[in-house]
Amino acid sequence: MIVAVDGPAAAGKGTLARRLAAALGLPYLDTGLLYRAVGRRVLDAGHDPRDARCALAAARALRPEDLARGDLRGPVADMAATNVAAIAAVRAELLEFQRRFGREHGAVLDGRDIGTVVFPEATAKLFVTASAEERARRRQAELQGRGMPADFVQVLSEIRDRDAQDENRPVAPLRPADDALLLDTTLLDADAAFAAAMALIATRRPSHAV
Ligand code: CDP
Repeated sequence: MIVAVDGPAAAGKGTLARRLAAALGLPYLDTGLLYRAVGRRVLDAGHDPRDARCALAAARALRPEDLARGDLRGPVADMAATNVAAIAAVRAELLEFQRRFGREHGAVLDGRDIGTVVFPEATAKLFVTASAEERARRRQAELQGRGMPADFVQVLSEIRDRDAQDENRPVAPLRPADDALLLDTTLLDADAAFAAAMALIATRRPSHAV
């Protein structure tokens, strides 16, 4: 069973996907971490994350321990991830790892293109959204919880910029798959979003079709 959880920045995909994985007994992969770790490697090397050659070299050099780094969040890491994620060769380099992860035991994966590119045959595809203002509020609270300064207007503007870049890139743009199940969490807390997601997934499980 593969559950794809896609959607724009700070929509609560990670919290939701982690809970779904636990409830369904499936491994969980936060695919955003892959792009974050590549972006961080490029920054460490003193290069621009929009530089395709450097970003591809960083993607090829990626190690599991890179995903456990403590500096993969925050505005600089966010934008570096979005920039390397727009590079076709970087996406191609990371594709096989994601597919292998899911094929082994099934999985819940969250990202931008899981339902459209990585697993177009996923059992259930959720597209999780919320208003940009609500997402900015959540991201601001998350940053403040990590002890990082977070100005609402700046967070909102960063979210809008990253969404625009993710939606308009030529390769694997952010968009719901044709058969995606839409979940707007603007008015839902984490428990309500989880319950709604489980109900949507139930409509796509094989037992439901019999
Ligand atoms: O937590 P947040 O929603 O802000 O971001 P994330 O899910 O960690 O993803 C970071 C960046 O990686 C996004 O802005 C995308 O540009 C990129 N990404 C992607 O292109 N494809 C994925 N499957 C996952 C992330």
